[in-house]
Amino acid sequence: MFSSMASLPIDPILGLMAKFREDPNSDKVDLSVGVYKTANGHTPIFEAVKAAEKYRLETEDTKAYIGMMGTPGYNDAMLRLLIGADYPSDRIAAALTPGGCGALRVASEFLMRANPDATVWVSDPTWANHMPLIGGVGLKIKTYPYYDKASHGVNFSGMIETLKGLGPNDVVLLHASCHNPSGADLSPAQWDEIAAVAAERGFIPFIDSAYQGLGEGLDADAYGIRKIAASVEEMILASSCSKNFGLYRDRVGQVAVMTKADRKEVTVGQISSIARGMYSMPPAHGGAVVEHILTTPSLTASWQKELAGICSSIQTSRTLLKAGLEKAGVEGDFAYLIQNQGMFSFLDLTVEQINKLQADYSVYLVNSGRINLAGVTANNIDYLAASIKSVTG
Ligand SMILES: Cc1ncc(COP(=O)(O)O)c(C=O)c1O
Repeated sequence: MFSSMASLPIDPILGLMAKFREDPNSDKVDLSVGVYKTANGHTPIFEAVKAAEKYRLETEDTKAYIGMMGTPGYNDAMLRLLIGADYPSDRIAAALTPGGCGALRVASEFLMRANPDATVWVSDPTWANHMPLIGGVGLKIKTYPYYDKASHGVNFSGMIETLKGLGPNDVVLLHASCHNPSGADLSPAQWDEIAAVAAERGFIPFIDSAYQGLGEGLDADAYGIRKIAASVEEMILASSCSKNFGLYRDRVGQVAVMTKADRKEVTVGQISSIARGMYSMPPAHGGAVVEHILTTPSLTASWQKELAGICSSIQTSRTLLKAGLEKAGVEGDFAYLIQNQGMFSFLDLTVEQINKLQADYSVYLVNSGRINLAGVTANNIDYLAASIKSVTG
């Protein structure tokens, strides 16, 4: 039965990670996978997470299952963080999920049950894993214009014109902040316009929030979520604690569906049945850690401070890269590196140049030219900029 299975190419990012690990060049630079790293290439555990885990180790008294939706305390704390303390609790069904990917998949299954004819519109480009997570349930996917290569910002006129043509059978996936892969974010005024068009046209906003706090701050990064939540009756929010709590491998996320007032119970039932059919119950540990941090003021403060530190270290990398490329004489205007938000930006490199960077200089980035800024440090910037200069001529 299994011998007819086709062999699939290895995931490009995982393949690069493996090559990077094996590369003996001591100058090697990894700009590929979307994980935060310090200048030593280490992904640290937040002190607030360590403290919450210690507390849990001492107080946890059972390993019995948690429910399909996770714990109410976690769901409430996350919704307060994302939407604000005044979130409409009577209209939101929320569940702890295995990571942001789990949230995106549960949301997609939910959409497929709600309307199998729905089309999900994603930004061009979007995070590569959106395609299998959303398309894998059988939903149609189309793209709306988003990234403007010339300005390295948002092609807002193209985007909004497309959204104005959509209706109730459409779902629009929006990145809350720190757009992956471009780093080009929507301004508050642009979010206001999208919210107004969503309310008028009746499409469903589906917001993916994987980087809250890594852009302009916890509240600023949630501007779009809050604006949309205040403007429409129905929306979906898929969030992740992988990056902003550094809980990558513990798999912590949340799916939240905002419905009409009398539909909450039905929605809880649907999400529970979707979870039951996929993984039954979410893992408890990471969600409990997040809940403890967000409900313990001293830990909340410590977490916020560390998160702000990560954010400013990425900003420093952005400044370093801009200055380094200019100093090395690489052609182009790199002001956009400072304007983009979050972990990612694009470098305008061809696939040949990217291959050469890897083969000749052990500089690793994905073929699209997306780079993880956390890989740029004071120690490697001169080498990195000189390598880029040499492949771009
Ligand atoms: C845009 C976006 N959405 C969602 C996720 C979900 O991540 P995870 O499943 O690791 O929480 C990521 C992670 O890279 C992402 O970049």
